[in-house]
Amino acid sequence: MISYATRIALIAALGGFLFGFETAVISGAEGTIQHVWSLDSFWLGFTVASSLIGTVIGSLIIGGITQLNGRRTVLLGIAIVYLLSAIGCAVTSQWIIFVLFRFLGGLAVGASSVVGPMYISEISPAESRGRLAGLFQLNIVGGILVAYLTNYLLSGFGGEDSWRYMLGIMAVPALIFAVLLNFIPESPRWLVLKGRDQEATKIFHKLGQMGAVELIKEEHELAMNGVKERLFNGKYNKPIFYAILLAMFNQLSGINAILYYAPRIFEMAGFDKADAFQQSVYVGLANFIFTALAMTVIDKFGRKKLLLIGAAGMVLFLSLTAFSFSDPLVADRKVIYYLIGFIAFFAFSQGAVIWVFISEIFPNAVRSQGGSLGSFTHWIMAAIISWVFPVIVEGNVLGGYYSFIFYAVMMFLSFLFIWRVMPETKGKTLEQIQKELGIK
Ligand code: GLC
Repeated sequence: MISYATRIALIAALGGFLFGFETAVISGAEGTIQHVWSLDSFWLGFTVASSLIGTVIGSLIIGGITQLNGRRTVLLGIAIVYLLSAIGCAVTSQWIIFVLFRFLGGLAVGASSVVGPMYISEISPAESRGRLAGLFQLNIVGGILVAYLTNYLLSGFGGEDSWRYMLGIMAVPALIFAVLLNFIPESPRWLVLKGRDQEATKIFHKLGQMGAVELIKEEHELAMNGVKERLFNGKYNKPIFYAILLAMFNQLSGINAILYYAPRIFEMAGFDKADAFQQSVYVGLANFIFTALAMTVIDKFGRKKLLLIGAAGMVLFLSLTAFSFSDPLVADRKVIYYLIGFIAFFAFSQGAVIWVFISEIFPNAVRSQGGSLGSFTHWIMAAIISWVFPVIVEGNVLGGYYSFIFYAVMMFLSFLFIWRVMPETKGKTLEQIQKELGIK
């Protein structure tokens, strides 16, 4: 019998499934879209990026909205935006409307990346918080994998209109998400913040966390002195620093450049275009399997150990990938193994930890603003990395060498940061973490 906390975490984590689906689906549809609206490469780039612009804005604005309206209400709003985006993209005949609906989808992705893990962290018992919040990442990679698969299955369906089905099918999980959200409670930690202690006590009881309200209130009052709290007032510099650095290193691994441009990388290594789909699925599968593995040990090993193992493995496989591009005249097909090795170590470490860590490092009073900041940093970096990568490698195999060497050096630096600076958060209540960071 799965616990109440697990059941509601599973529902909230569906926002991650849609996040993964929405970001990966475009890879299968962009070719036909370019053709349908006769887009040149600049405007195609813009069309694909419109969703990424949405993620940056969505993650930035959602913190304040969530603090005001509650986590659950906002999740419901996000589900509806996903639904609208799926339907809008599928039915429109105008390019500009398509771009607008992709932008909307991006808003939902950015917002999900803040609110989903935060909600789960806030309802989870300390000893299983990593595993439960990790469900969010497992859903992201599940969404990516399903998008690769449905793209493949639908590519022969509907002729010129196949892309409409690829994008439109997201309406199904979005609708399921919207319906299931009606069965989860509001976050009790948010209720305490709003002085609704009685409701919060009831929910904490159902979650088996007695006495939580008193503990939260104690920490909260110490932190707030009754005034509305601002993130940048000097008190929260430590968690701000940790969240920004971890989010930056997440993207400086090159993960999203690799996910978005996997087919292009494989072609650079001498593979056929036709093989690209199969390799994307391998990459997606490795991502899923190693995320699941990480979840089984994240609360035992702790966040730091996972990140250290991952950083070391990523340095190795990124370097191997780089060297396989060092001679422009010799294509090295072993790249597929190196990239799968990289994805495995990424999934086991950075992938599994990022959203968990960002959602647990900030105290109750500023958790949503802090989550917004961490997530915003991640999306800005994602946009930069995935814009720069194709420019550097365009017609230039050595560009691959330089890019992967750069990512490898970044992962080496992340190893040092994790080892020497980052705090461990496993097994502690959110309030204990706050105390240990010296936030009063
Ligand atoms: C993490 C990253 C996200 C990436 C995903 C891939 O969630 O933060 O950007 O797309 O992992 O598995």
